[in-house]
Amino acid sequence: MNTLKGQSLLTWLDYSEAEIRFLLELSLQVKAEKRRGERHQRFLGKTIALLFEKRSTRTRCAFETAFGEEGGHPVFLSTADIQLGAKESIEDTARVLGRMFDAIQFRGFKQTTVETLAAYAGVPVYNGLTDSFHPTQALADIQTLEENFGPAKGKKLCFIGDGRNNVARSLMVISSKLGVHFTVITPESLVPDTDLVKTCTGIAEESGARIRISQDVSEVEGADALYTDVWASMGEEAQKEKRVQLLRPYQVNQALMDRTGRKDTIFLHCLPAVKGEEVTSDVIDGPQSRAWDEAENRKHTIKAIMLATL
Ligand code: CP
Ligand code: NVA
Repeated sequence: MNTLKGQSLLTWLDYSEAEIRFLLELSLQVKAEKRRGERHQRFLGKTIALLFEKRSTRTRCAFETAFGEEGGHPVFLSTADIQLGAKESIEDTARVLGRMFDAIQFRGFKQTTVETLAAYAGVPVYNGLTDSFHPTQALADIQTLEENFGPAKGKKLCFIGDGRNNVARSLMVISSKLGVHFTVITPESLVPDTDLVKTCTGIAEESGARIRISQDVSEVEGADALYTDVWASMGEEAQKEKRVQLLRPYQVNQALMDRTGRKDTIFLHCLPAVKGEEVTSDVIDGPQSRAWDEAENRKHTIKAIMLATL
């Protein structure tokens, strides 16, 4: 798809429904190629810089293996390795990396950092998670939903937990684009910010999505998928005890899974999980969990994003 060439991925807000659908199809294709044992070298001679301010298992490994197995050369750079705002501005770092690499992935704290990288690098920049958004995760989540229930439009996805976190926000954006009925179930003090809700509600009018924010766990009724994430995200460790108290009634356990009234409801989690807090072991390790397929799909969706934009 020509419109995707050279594009960065910062939030999904500037992607069309057709572009996201194209990426989902491409991801299924690369997953099937992998299953058949096909080898391709579509990134031969290309390089990507992988910048990490925060830790990662899945995102780093997905980018590194997806790029490397296609013949490309990924270079991992943590903040212990490069300046990135410490002794050199983000703008200058972006200008230099853009001269040496074909693409850049950034994981870190501020959304403004990834936006500045994209503005100055002159090559595609991928958001591998900031405090505000986790867009590559949301694509893998939708792929996993579709592998179980077919096209995402009209499906019901409920996020239960810290409603203002990066994962909940990205799910809200992608759901509004694709026509997924998305409900955030969270205490009043953790609702996603009004501006983003307003933006997504506006987008939803076109796609047919229903975006809801609620404090009531009984809203899981009829859901195709229940989704949760850690109660204290990276960088919020100091708030952990307070969050555990606040979010205990929002734990995803078998009783909550049963409240959907459906036996085929699936459980999703971006991982890493704190078992016994936001989800019980019997759910995440049980028959309704698709968390492990979802983790694998990170790699296929990330490969699809890079293939389409490079
Ligand atoms: N889901 C996810 O982003 O995992 P990592 O933090 O391990 O990359
Ligand atoms: N909300 C979590 C997601 C981890 C993939 C965090 O930011 O730590």
